[in-house]
Amino acid sequence: MSEDRLRIAIQKSGRLSDGSLDLLKKCGLTISRGRDKLYGRVQEMPIDVLLLRDDDIPEFVADDACDIGVVGQNVFNEDGLADVHESPAEEVMSLGFAQCRLMLAAPKDWDFDGASMLEGKRIATSYPGLTKKWLESQGVKARVVMMKGSVEVAPRLKIADAVCDIVSTGATLDANGLKPVATVFDSQALLIKNPKPFSPAKQEIYNALMKRVRGVMSSRDAKYIMMNAPRDAIAAITEYLPGAEAPTVLELAGSPGKVAIHAVCRESVFWDTLEALKKLGASAILVLPIEKMMA
Ligand code: PRP
Ligand code: ZN
Repeated sequence: MSEDRLRIAIQKSGRLSDGSLDLLKKCGLTISRGRDKLYGRVQEMPIDVLLLRDDDIPEFVADDACDIGVVGQNVFNEDGLADVHESPAEEVMSLGFAQCRLMLAAPKDWDFDGASMLEGKRIATSYPGLTKKWLESQGVKARVVMMKGSVEVAPRLKIADAVCDIVSTGATLDANGLKPVATVFDSQALLIKNPKPFSPAKQEIYNALMKRVRGVMSSRDAKYIMMNAPRDAIAAITEYLPGAEAPTVLELAGSPGKVAIHAVCRESVFWDTLEALKKLGASAILVLPIEKMMA
């Protein structure tokens, strides 16, 4: 492996692909893809991108084929439970996209009233490790039937009584006559890293990239908010702004009792926040997106 280029593994196509590419783009990176579309080269930094099946990403990152990767927490934890790597990849941080849940689902006509109903049943899943762990935690003995894909058809084919599968919109379950009955695992995109120390050159690229990733993460929900307000409402308004540091207070020419307040809110600003600010006397409220942030 090249010592002076950082290799990132991302999903080729699926739940994580758009979010992963979007994150790299927001970090200011443009990727030129090779003809096979499995390999991309970043223009702005010495970084290569490998486009893989999500299930292969923990393996590639643990086994030195890649330095870092973006993968579902579900796939990463399932891989960890399989206990096949001498030194597994390390978790760096959750990335806040590709949220989904691993859920127990049963035929719609089941009158589900708790995990004990699964005793002695057959459950089809592509996540045997997470499913068994959950069943154990519920004190239920059931048979886990491993399937690589199309898990949702198992009950109809009488291969299993219930399934344990990934749900995001719920459309797949619904189309197959199934309903979610219990959450086994909450998942989202996760950044992982090879467990071995990088060479100094690679560590430098990694640090530079991480600085940008953290910048993207912290500006994701952040907003710049501006308003006019009575001078005596400054304290009350500051307290109301979600995740804001000390705001900037400016004089308003010609209105001695009023000021302009500018602040960065680190959390989402919702309509009810604006309504509450209005009640505190604020007017001309503006909420602007923040593109980049670096502490
Ligand atoms: C999961 C699951 C369903 C689909 C559910 O597959 O197996 O096919 O997502 O999504 P929905 O609730 O929005 O209908 P996944 O994308 O994880 O596929 P993969 O196993 O091939 O990676
Ligand atoms: Zn997959």
